[in-house]
Amino acid sequence: GVTIALVFAWQVGLAALLCVPLIMGAAIIQKMCMSRRFTTDNGGLSPPTLLEQGLRGITSVQAYGMEEKMCNDYTVALVPESKGKIQMGAVAGFVFGFSQFAVFVTFAVIFYVGSQLLVQVKVDFVSFFTAILAIMFGALGIAQVTVDFNAQQDGLAAAQRIFEIIDEPYNEMDPLDPSGDKPSSIDGAISFKDVTFSYPSRPNHLVYRPSPDGDRSGFSLDIKPKQSVAFVGKSGCGKSTALQLFLKFYEANSGSVTLDGKDVRDLNTKWLRENVGYVGQMPVLFQGTVRDNILMGKPDATEDEIIKAAKAANAFDFVMGLNADFGTDIGSGGMLLSGGQRQRVAIARAIISDPAILVLDEATAALDNESERIVQAALDDLQEKQPRTTLVVAHRLTTVKNCDQICVLDGGGVKELGSHSELLDKKGLYAELWMKQGGGGDGEK
Ligand SMILES: Nc1ncnc2c1ncn2[C@@H]1O[C@H](COP(=O)(O)OP(=O)(O)O)[C@@H](O)[C@H]1O
Ligand SMILES: [Mg+2]
Repeated sequence: GVTIALVFAWQVGLAALLCVPLIMGAAIIQKMCMSRRFTTDNGGLSPPTLLEQGLRGITSVQAYGMEEKMCNDYTVALVPESKGKIQMGAVAGFVFGFSQFAVFVTFAVIFYVGSQLLVQVKVDFVSFFTAILAIMFGALGIAQVTVDFNAQQDGLAAAQRIFEIIDEPYNEMDPLDPSGDKPSSIDGAISFKDVTFSYPSRPNHLVYRPSPDGDRSGFSLDIKPKQSVAFVGKSGCGKSTALQLFLKFYEANSGSVTLDGKDVRDLNTKWLRENVGYVGQMPVLFQGTVRDNILMGKPDATEDEIIKAAKAANAFDFVMGLNADFGTDIGSGGMLLSGGQRQRVAIARAIISDPAILVLDEATAALDNESERIVQAALDDLQEKQPRTTLVVAHRLTTVKNCDQICVLDGGGVKELGSHSELLDKKGLYAELWMKQGGGGDGEK
């Protein structure tokens, strides 16, 4: 644009060139201000997180009459956020104003110079107009380039962050990691040896630790093939943690967890999890039919296998009572089923692939007595007909008294170990817990 202007009316072009530093200055200021982040960190939860938490727990919010408190928390959380936004608005406004100022000063200058030339008849009207238009379009072009340039910079920065994550090396707990052993058969012997462990988010809190007297150096336990083992103990003593370490959700700080003598760290994570059936306290079912959900445990299962798994999980009868039996839609999250029904579908899903190892973390804890009895009967039956290594975490001791071994966790390690009757004879922590829970309800020993 300036070149054209220089050709048609060199004075106008020159005037425009003189204004270039002003426009450049405005662009630089803009760049500097925009790259500054206005942090809105208020130390607490961000408004979107608060909103999500409130909506997800809407029943609790209503039950505890916390509607007003939630609204207030949200409003309070908005304050630092809005302060940041206001600051940003002020700066952006200033920057915009300044760059507009620069542009219009330039226009004023070239119009002034141009009109003076026109008056003094040093240029004709056509050249004057050509020069001015050329500069205006040139300026618009530059403005567009800056916008594109900024977008490109933002894009590059975002792309870099994404590639950093994609390029991150596999860690050995990643199920996508193709490395690691995939033994062709599993006996099902599991052993924890001198394991110490703290969650990465709480490095100072050792869930498993050496005992103060030095008698044991961590959590140790040997489980024989096809044995059923129960983990019991106070809430927070590390029952679920044992299962998580075995499934490689976390890695022990020291010591080892082995399956058939092989350190789980050397086993292929996907393979390991494929060979373990897992049922948690609140198993998640997915939108779809009962069949879809059971098939998640074994996508290529035949109809016969589905029926067999449902029968083993004590789910067959109730499924047959649904309006379209296995084809019944269970709603998002399995909402259309009761807790006990959901649990039995989850158990069918866990056992359909006939896993070598079954892991149950409080699988019946959320159920009412009747459903618990039915689910527990299904599990006991399963173990009797086809024994497999089973790790059970249970709060209610009546559900685990038939296990081969009961492992009482306390103080960061195994406090007591033995069968139900052995532990009762010991009159230790287990006997105490057993009595506290009513001794099986019928005073039975
Ligand atoms: N994801 C986690 N991050 C940090 N600490 C955790 C996590 N999960 C559990 N803990 C802590 O580890 C300890 C053992 O937890 P857990 O094994 O879940 O207990 P439980 O015996 O009730 O199943 C508890 O003190 C708990 O607070
Ligand atoms: Mg637990």
